[in-house]
Amino acid sequence: MEGPDSGTRLGVILGIETSCDETAAALVTDDGRVAANVVSSQAALHARYGGVVPEVASRHHLELLLPAIRQALDDAGATLDDVERVAVTQGPGLVGALLVGVSAGKALAWARRLPLVPVNHLHGHVASLFLAVDGVSDTRHGRSVQVPFLCLLASGGHTLLLDVRDEATFEVLGTTLDDAAGEAFDKGARLLGLGYPGGAEIDRLAKDGDPEAFSFPVARVPGLDFSFSGLKTALLYTVRDLGPDETERRRADLAASYQRAIVRALVERTQAAAESTGAERVAVVGGVAANSELRASLPDAALAPLNLCTDNAAMIASAARFVEPIAYPRYLALDAFS
Ligand code: KG4
Ligand code: ZN
Repeated sequence: MEGPDSGTRLGVILGIETSCDETAAALVTDDGRVAANVVSSQAALHARYGGVVPEVASRHHLELLLPAIRQALDDAGATLDDVERVAVTQGPGLVGALLVGVSAGKALAWARRLPLVPVNHLHGHVASLFLAVDGVSDTRHGRSVQVPFLCLLASGGHTLLLDVRDEATFEVLGTTLDDAAGEAFDKGARLLGLGYPGGAEIDRLAKDGDPEAFSFPVARVPGLDFSFSGLKTALLYTVRDLGPDETERRRADLAASYQRAIVRALVERTQAAAESTGAERVAVVGGVAANSELRASLPDAALAPLNLCTDNAAMIASAARFVEPIAYPRYLALDAFS
């Protein structure tokens, strides 16, 4: 891979992400430019089960990971000679799925005598904000969001309010007591007879519906925590009362009202956290950050770029820029954590 000064070769970080159902590989330069970002989603394979089947995910990661890495190198016009560090998601996630990435990362780094960087998946989501978008902004040279900031991380597995102190450090201020926001979207979608994962489907359908048509309350829990399980039950009862035909007819209204309740809960808690911590800047990351109503409801927040909201490896390589690498070959005993 040629650098901006002719003839020089740019060192890049190879990122690997296999914590759930996306098999992803990316190449990111030290200054945060995304040279390649390959995501092989297994979502269609899991759709028939209505959710991710861990054993199926692990097996598909095994098949898809090396082709994804090869594709990332091809896309960047790079070879393994250009890779200076290997970054891999260590956890949290499905441990069998994570192990595929961790084993591949260790093997590649060991064979090339490279350092390995274990990355926390949540740190990865936060670091999706630190990548250069269209080569314009990056964390060190005129970035889009300055630390410290308050970060809402809303995904299929997590709903967290984080106090991000610097590019490497964050503290959890609030979390969900039951379902994650993405999980609430997915379970709601299932009740409405939509596909898996359902967040994007509800988002699309909600555009044609009336968000005030149904009143779905969201539990208020003390502090800065969230709770979404009651909302899902409220939708279940509404759908049951309406019956299949009426549910079908009013699906857009149901989607819009349900989405409104989730977004309202996320926005209210985020604003309360910003007030109580005195945070000057707010950011939103994770799969649910792709939601159009949530994005519109927080106009002053820094939002992860749309293609970097759901799981990807560019965010993992981005986070690795701020984590101490483990030198060759001391990482051979490194394990994944769930
Ligand atoms: O971050 P992510 O890819 O995986 C985890 O780390 O969990 O998030 C996936 C979640 C799914 O629950 C999916 O339904 C949700 O993000 N999602 C959305 C949208 N796009 C993806 N939720 C609401 N609106 C969207 N547009
Ligand atoms: Zn994620």
